[in-house]
Amino acid sequence: MKEPAKKRKLPSPDLSSRLTECRDFFALPELSHLPAERKSRALDELRATGTYVQSAEEILIGAKLAWRNHARCVGRKHWRTLKLLDARHATTAEDIADACFEHLRVATNGGALQSVVTVGPPPLPDGREYRIISPQLIRYAGYLGDDGSVVGDPAHLDLTALAIRLGWRGEGTAFDVLPLMIQTPEEPIRWFDVPRELVLEVDFEHPNYRWFAGLGLKWHAVPAVSNMDLEIGGVRYPCAPFNGWYVNTEVGARNFSDTDRYDMLPTIAKKLRLDMSSDRTLWKDRALVELNRAVIHSFRESGAYMVDHHTVAKQFVDHVDREAKAGRECPTDWSWINPPMSSGITPTFHRLYDPPDMDIRPNFVSRGSSGCPFS
Ligand code: ARG
Repeated sequence: MKEPAKKRKLPSPDLSSRLTECRDFFALPELSHLPAERKSRALDELRATGTYVQSAEEILIGAKLAWRNHARCVGRKHWRTLKLLDARHATTAEDIADACFEHLRVATNGGALQSVVTVGPPPLPDGREYRIISPQLIRYAGYLGDDGSVVGDPAHLDLTALAIRLGWRGEGTAFDVLPLMIQTPEEPIRWFDVPRELVLEVDFEHPNYRWFAGLGLKWHAVPAVSNMDLEIGGVRYPCAPFNGWYVNTEVGARNFSDTDRYDMLPTIAKKLRLDMSSDRTLWKDRALVELNRAVIHSFRESGAYMVDHHTVAKQFVDHVDREAKAGRECPTDWSWINPPMSSGITPTFHRLYDPPDMDIRPNFVSRGSSGCPFS
């Protein structure tokens, strides 16, 4: 059991850079109300033990700033509203699963979504960590058939195969919610079914086309990313799921449209009786618009909150302007901020931003290739 644990140990930044991060963190204006003595105690503890215990207040402020600093997030205008669930007390996989379920309850909030981050235990002194293997708290399984066809979400073939290897069995529908998979220092990966009542889903229908509901499409309301590290003040939290709310394009212009995801555009175009004889007829584009209308309409009808790509783009440029007035950098990844459809008719398209690679802290950091192979 110790062996695989060693393998997943990430190269941790050396102590001196963590001391610098700690110093920089406590020097932030957002922490200026803390007594000077708090900063020196944190530094002493970090120097002596390689880490230090942060207060819940420090973590909440750090997580808000991590959100504000994250170059790929278009929803950053709302960074101040983040709520913290402190789950550092968790010691077992069950404890972490329970914390994730509580996260879903608070985040879903009956459809009035709230932004939440749950912070689990930091790595042990020897570097072994608590990790959520699942890339999000809610993910749909994907099953590969003998003929190469896929039922469900093709993005999760590996994750589904892993769950099955661990003993999970799905029903075999296109929307089986995968179990949460959790790894702790002491145990191999364990899985936990997500209680059905915690998975708010929206069935899709179209405001004008009756046949649309017959496609049997649906999606979950809460996007809760669970495979990124939260880095605050020289401390790294590998178990820190967070959520906002969906932009329609994530579901309508990617999850259901990408040819290596649910690939629904040809089906929808046929139903619309479009001329599919050539790309030049723009049948894909027309199907894409109707699919996205259905996504927005269905979320609205069901009472689950979602934002459209025009509104979120406006909010984001407001945010960027506000940050500039506050004299703060706002690192931004243009290619992630712009929606995957109609980008040129949103305001985010028509400007430049602070470069995304400034890599400022606190931040949410992808584990990338050195971490979870399933994301
Ligand atoms: N694009 C991802 C998905 O479709 C979700 C990423 C986070 N999105 C968000 N709106 N916070 O599941």
